[in-house]
Amino acid sequence: RGKRAFIAGVADDNGYGWAIAKSLAAAGAEILVGTWVPALNIFETSLRRGKFDETRVLPDGSLMEIAKVYPLDAVYDNPAEVPEDVKTNKRYSGSSKWTVQEVAESVKEDFGTIDILVHSLANGPEVHKPLLETSRNGYLAAVSASSYSFISLLKHFLPIMNPEGATISLTYIASEKIIPGYGGGMSSAKSALESDTRVLAFEAGRKHNVRVNTISAGPLRSRAAKAIGFIDMMIDYSLVNAPLQKELSAEEVGNAAAFLCSPLASAITGSVIYVDNGLNAMGVGV
Ligand code: NAI
Repeated sequence: RGKRAFIAGVADDNGYGWAIAKSLAAAGAEILVGTWVPALNIFETSLRRGKFDETRVLPDGSLMEIAKVYPLDAVYDNPAEVPEDVKTNKRYSGSSKWTVQEVAESVKEDFGTIDILVHSLANGPEVHKPLLETSRNGYLAAVSASSYSFISLLKHFLPIMNPEGATISLTYIASEKIIPGYGGGMSSAKSALESDTRVLAFEAGRKHNVRVNTISAGPLRSRAAKAIGFIDMMIDYSLVNAPLQKELSAEEVGNAAAFLCSPLASAITGSVIYVDNGLNAMGVGV
């Protein structure tokens, strides 16, 4: 039986989520994606009009098929938690059933079970601000969208995950080393995500025989990264300083994710795996 994957955080063909979807599809998995509600329209229109057809090509020449696109806002667990102004916002009122609980219910209804859960999303409204200038709300919003969102997804999807399933999230080295510019509590959010990876590996492992890992990825020029503003500098820094002097491709992260979600990684759980051309291992710049 082929595996089925739900990938949260795909809204174009530039990010890690898209690359992970492709690597999983190339390995034979059926692909479902969760797309942030405000980005849903553009993504679905672009898909339908063939805008992604060039990047949908898999190694065997076929095109990646997405079995279903679900609207998702991972900041809300269930309808009772959605504030009135969001409910009535016209970017949201056009879609329905996009809270985490409802998406898990819809996937269950449509497909029954999944084997692989991917969390490839983050958001920090004050990412441009140094931590000392970050507001309480900005900090909590970063942790809500970037860390708790994984706990919520895992909690709601675990009951429909087959035993020996696997989950993956994406983290960044700013969790453990100082990266000026990665502000607004985003560094804190990634630290939480990594710590939660260990605790959730224990809980999901014992309860459901499901593995939980996170990939600490090097810099990629995604939509989210461009919004932070220092991505070109980080890519240049890595080219100069990392053990492997090449630009990191999203595909390399996708392939690592496919490995970690496969039986080849059946004893790996609770780990932070670096996919960054080795940059994390350097002690000084060269
Ligand atoms: P991306 O822009 O492709 O992905 C982020 C996605 O999160 C977008 O599709 C966005 O619509 C979605 N999103 C934001 N808030 C959401 C919410 N409340 N509910 C549902 N979806 C929401 O960018 P990228 O860079 O591929 O990001 C994916 C993951 O990789 C993130 O966790 C990011 O922190 C991580 N990462 C990125 C690095 C980079 O240099 N691009 C480096 C290391 C980690």
